[in-house]
This record gives sequence, C-alpha cells and structure tokens, in this order.
Amino acid sequence: MEYSVKSGSPEKQRTACVVVGVYDKRRLSGAALQLDQACDGYLSQLVRRGDMDGRSGQSLMLHRVPGLACDRVLLVGLGRERDCDERAYRRAVETMGEALRDAGAGEATCYLTEIAVKARDVFWRIRTAARTVEALLYRFDRLKTETASRRKLYLRRITFSVPSRRELADGEKAAVEGAAIGRGMNLARDLGNLPGNHCTPRYLGERALSLADEHPRMEAELLDEAAMEELGMGALLAVSRGSREEARLIVLRYRGTDDDTAPYTLVGKGITFDTGGISLKPAAAMDEMKYDMAGAASVLGTLQVAAELELPLNVVGIVAAAENMPDGRAMRPGDVVTSMSGRTIEILNTDAEGRLALCDALTYAERFRPRAVVDMATLTGAAIVALGHHTHGLMGNSNGLVNELLGAGRHAGDRAWELPLWDEYEEQLKSNFADVANIGGQPAGTITAGCFLGRFAGKYRWAHLDIAGTAWRSGDNKDATGRPVPLLSQWLLERAARHAAGR
Ligand code: BES
Ligand code: MN
Ligand code: ZN
Repeated sequence: MEYSVKSGSPEKQRTACVVVGVYDKRRLSGAALQLDQACDGYLSQLVRRGDMDGRSGQSLMLHRVPGLACDRVLLVGLGRERDCDERAYRRAVETMGEALRDAGAGEATCYLTEIAVKARDVFWRIRTAARTVEALLYRFDRLKTETASRRKLYLRRITFSVPSRRELADGEKAAVEGAAIGRGMNLARDLGNLPGNHCTPRYLGERALSLADEHPRMEAELLDEAAMEELGMGALLAVSRGSREEARLIVLRYRGTDDDTAPYTLVGKGITFDTGGISLKPAAAMDEMKYDMAGAASVLGTLQVAAELELPLNVVGIVAAAENMPDGRAMRPGDVVTSMSGRTIEILNTDAEGRLALCDALTYAERFRPRAVVDMATLTGAAIVALGHHTHGLMGNSNGLVNELLGAGRHAGDRAWELPLWDEYEEQLKSNFADVANIGGQPAGTITAGCFLGRFAGKYRWAHLDIAGTAWRSGDNKDATGRPVPLLSQWLLERAARHAAGR
C-alpha cells in the first residue's frame, strides 16, 4: 500500500473514494458538511432517512453522489463527538479499512485524519491511520493453494488529508512512520503465523540474514549449537536437546549512527514450537504453540522498522531460537544444567523452557554494553490469567526504563502494565540442588518468571515484556497480532528523538 498526504477540500477531490466521518445522532463532521453543501444536502437528507446514524462501527458506501468530483463517498460512523478518544478513532479507521478492502476503489482520500481526538495531534492521527490500515489489510494466505479463497484487493493508495498546507511535511513523516510500523507488525505476524514445520530456528536465522541483505546498515550473525557449546550456553542447549532442529542464537545488528554509542538491545524468545517437552502439554490447542516465537518475531519486526526509518541510533536484536520437544535425548525434570553465566539451574518443569533459552541470551547481551535491554517473550500462561489479552506484562530493574516503555505503549495504543518484581517473590525460585529452580510454583507465575530472568540481567538496565496474552488471537480467527512491535518502535523513535536533541 502507498500512503500520501494532502490538503484540499473534499468536494474537489477527483478520487475513487472520499472518506468522511459522521458523529452519533446523525451529526456530520466538518468534511462531511463541506461535501453536503456541494451536493445540495444529499448527505444530510440521506442521514435523516436513517441509513446512517453515526454509531461507531457503521459505514455506508455511496456511488456517484451528484455534484461531487469523486466516484464514491464512504461515510464512517464516529460515535459520540465528545467521546472521540484514541479507541474510537482507531475503530473508525478500521471501519474505513474494512469497507475499502471489500470495495472496488483503487484509491481513497481520507478525511478522518481531520477529526479531533482527545489529547492527540494530527501527526498521531496520520501515523495511527497508516499503521492501522496497513495491519488491517494483512492476510496470511501463502499456504493456501486454492485461489478462490484469496480475495482480490483493489485498494492501492490512501491519501490522508491535513487541515492546512502547514501540516503537510509533518503529515508525510507520520504516514511514513505509520506504514513502516505496520509493515514491521506484518513481518512479525508472518513469522508467527508460519507453522513449526516451516518456521524453524534455522528459518528464523535465514530471515535475519535476508533482512541484513536488504538493509545496508544491518548485519546478521548466526551462532549454531557448536558455537553455543563453546560459550557454555547450557540452558539454551538443554531446551534444544530433544529436537531434531538445531538451535540458533541470532544476532541482528542495526547501526544507525557511525559512532559507537551503546546500543539498545532487544532480546526475543524464539521457541519455534513448544510441546512442553517431557513435561508435555495437553493436546487441546497445542497448535498455538507455533506462536511461541512471537518475541523473536517482534525483534525482527522492530529492527526492520528501525532500518526503514533510518533511526539515528544503534540497535542489537538477539533471538534465542530453539524447539522444545520430548525425545530420548530431551532434558528431563530434575536435570541440573549450567548456564552461560556459570550459575546452575534445576529444571523442575521442562515446559518452563522460555526462561532457560532467554537467560543465556541475556548473558550474551552483556558483551554489547547495552544502553538498555528489553526482552519479549510468550513466557507464561499466568500472564493471560492476570492481564487477559489486552495488556503486556511488564517488569524490570529500572524505573526509568519501565516508565519509558509504559509511556511508549500508551502512545502507540499497545499498552503494558507493570507487575511488581519484589524480593519477596525470589524465594519461590529456591532449589535444593542448584543455584536456582526454573519454576516458582502456582502463585504469581508471571512474576517469578520475571524474577528468574532478572537474575541474569543484573549488569544493565533491563525490562521484560510477557506477551503470552497479547501476541496472538485464539479462536476462529486465530492470527498473530504483531504486538509489541508498535510499543517497541515508539520507544526507539522516542530514544532517537532524545539523542537528536542531545539528551
Ligand atoms: N509458551 C508457554 C507459555 C504460554 C502458555 C504462552 C499459553 C501462551 C499460552 C511457556 O513456555 C510455558 O509453557 N509456561 C508454563 C510455565 C510453567 C511450567 C511454570 C506455563 O505458563 O504454564
Ligand atoms: Mn513451555
Ligand atoms: Zn514456551
């Protein structure tokens, strides 16, 4: 999809479709009123007849409205004017996207970006619109051969309107950023949706290499199991022992500045399929464990965003990729392994494999002398119990970093919520036979998983996002969501802006 920005009155647009909003109780928005005047009250009459009352989620496509230069007018319900907040706005953009996706228009000019949204400016509105449309048009059908099940998409370009020419430059920047973030999400979703027999640790490594090929400021390095052995990554290797697929530690670097400023480092859990291992999972919905590499996918997605936007900072992405399988060679409950940090771990449950893979990646991250490390992982079912499917679980050892991430999530509509990483919880990780156990029992499962990781992240500012509830949708329309790419991208954009301002 292409996105552009312009300013001009809606009745003069010679486009395939002009999109304007209608508020609840049939109140026309500013742009809709302008159209209405040009077509002698056609819209207000139609709205009065009851075909469109402006409720959120409603849309109505009109063809060849007399007096207008465009082929179509799409009316989109906005809900109540004084309730027009971020959610209502996003919903309106989604409604537009759905209507355009199913229509024959090749291009559209969207005036929803002129609507007042509480506490958000036109830059935010355009960026959000571009990202939302880009993500909405995504479909994962590459494994279907029957072309009948693939729908043709006519839409090629959306032009967002800004109130005046003064906003053009900013608007264009916003559209570029929004589209890049949307594409980053879609990359993450593609990887997530790919099943375990396609998306293996080796495959993730190849995708990192091809990203590095596409972007001159990126480079990728892959460590195989022999290299990990050499480094003493006994925890990550324990996870992979039961699998025929070889593990990979993927290091994807983006150098946005020529100097050696300390990199922001993203670490992702890349379990390409999680059976639970010898502590085998129940059969129901086990297919969804193909998404257990969603953290890894969001690392690649976010690095792509950084590279496409040429953010002036250095970023390192580290992915711990492995498959967790039961097998004669698999790790067993009770095994004690030595992590790269030198600390020993008693594996009391082989299904708590994510933290085993991540702890060695976190130790490996030390060598980059990172400015901050954020790890992402579909780590615990308990995160879904605590926060459901809307909110990432967030923990960390630095209030400053945690607050940066909370703020970025709010701004991007990809929100996280902090859980307490207090000393009291550490006791649950006591082991009789090793330095630490890999599970902490029922209570506060998300927090004790965070505590476990925290022990390996003591040498830098660190935060952890548990994305078990947010990285994919279950049910009939199961799909990877591409989260937390928006949060991470926003965080990096803000870091880049700070650097540019010399702070
Ligand atoms: N990948 C799972 C977590 C998960 C479960 C994500 C369900 C999304 C949906 C993780 O490896 C896991 O199995 N965690 C265990 C930890 C437990 C054994 C301490 C869990 O949450 O049950
Ligand atoms: Mn598991
Ligand atoms: Zn897992």
